[in-house]
Amino acid sequence: MPELASRAHAENIVPVVDAAMKQSGLSLAAIDAIAFTQAPGLIGALLVGSQFAKSLALALDKPLIAVHHMQAHVLANLLQHPAPTFPFLCLTVSGGHTQIVLCEAPTKMKVIGQTIDDAAGEAFDKTAKILGLPYPGGPLIDRYAKEGNAIYKFPEPKIDGLDFSFSGLKTSILYFLNNAGNGNVYKVELTATVEERKKFIDENLADICASVQQRIVSILLNKLKKAVLQTGITQVCIAGGVSANSGLRKGLKEMGNALGWQTFIPPFEYCTDNAAMIAVTGYYKFLQNDFVEMDVVPSAGSGF
Ligand code: KG4
Ligand code: ZN
Repeated sequence: MPELASRAHAENIVPVVDAAMKQSGLSLAAIDAIAFTQAPGLIGALLVGSQFAKSLALALDKPLIAVHHMQAHVLANLLQHPAPTFPFLCLTVSGGHTQIVLCEAPTKMKVIGQTIDDAAGEAFDKTAKILGLPYPGGPLIDRYAKEGNAIYKFPEPKIDGLDFSFSGLKTSILYFLNNAGNGNVYKVELTATVEERKKFIDENLADICASVQQRIVSILLNKLKKAVLQTGITQVCIAGGVSANSGLRKGLKEMGNALGWQTFIPPFEYCTDNAAMIAVTGYYKFLQNDFVEMDVVPSAGSGF
């Protein structure tokens, strides 16, 4: 509901900034610059944030810094001890993006692999929707997966290079459920009735979630393994909302231990969208005097 999201931003931005200032014990005068999310995202929400940031920068006579949301997710990894050193690889997995990013410096990043269709977060959320779970379904699938076993084998897509695809997985899960778990995951065979389908989901929810999660995680980690082989870089990070997933966190640690990588996982609260990641990116841009003028406009699209 984009319109409701932007209205909520407009209502909350002043109280949130106020509370942050009180908690930090700082005065507005002590702040060096104002950083805000310029792209990508829902345009209404971005407009509220950018307009507020501009107003504050103008009123306080402070420089303004435009931050890219996906770059900020990657740099959330610098908010941990020990933090990765450059260069490192980062698997950035959120509701809208799935990327392998090669980071040479805080402000020098290259996307070396990305999804050609759905994002990993969408794969979780769309599966949850098929299972009748509320949005966002990723955290719920994670929770149910802990109680189940990955006994159903969903196909792993064959995509060249470092790119990802998740739309085929979604389709095979749909066919599998339409067949109430009896049929072929590659073919439409509407053999089950609505009641049979619902009963199958109710009785096997934990195993279905464990199987879906296991496959999404294996798709992500196998590409990451390929990226390490290609680049020779063995410091590996994860970022974005899906990096909160317990299967991915555990899988990355295990793969890293087995293959001699140094792995980094941001603290849980810095994985999903947060303001600290915007601040840390703003800090590195500040060090480079990378400021923007008042005519800067937010953008819904990616352009990373
Ligand atoms: O980065 P984020 O908070 O917002 C975007 O910028 O998109 O990511 C949100 C995504 C949603 O798709 C949500 O289902 C997913 O992250 N997510 C998870 C988990 N926590 C959040 N997916 C799987 N397991 C989780 N524990
Ligand atoms: Zn995000």
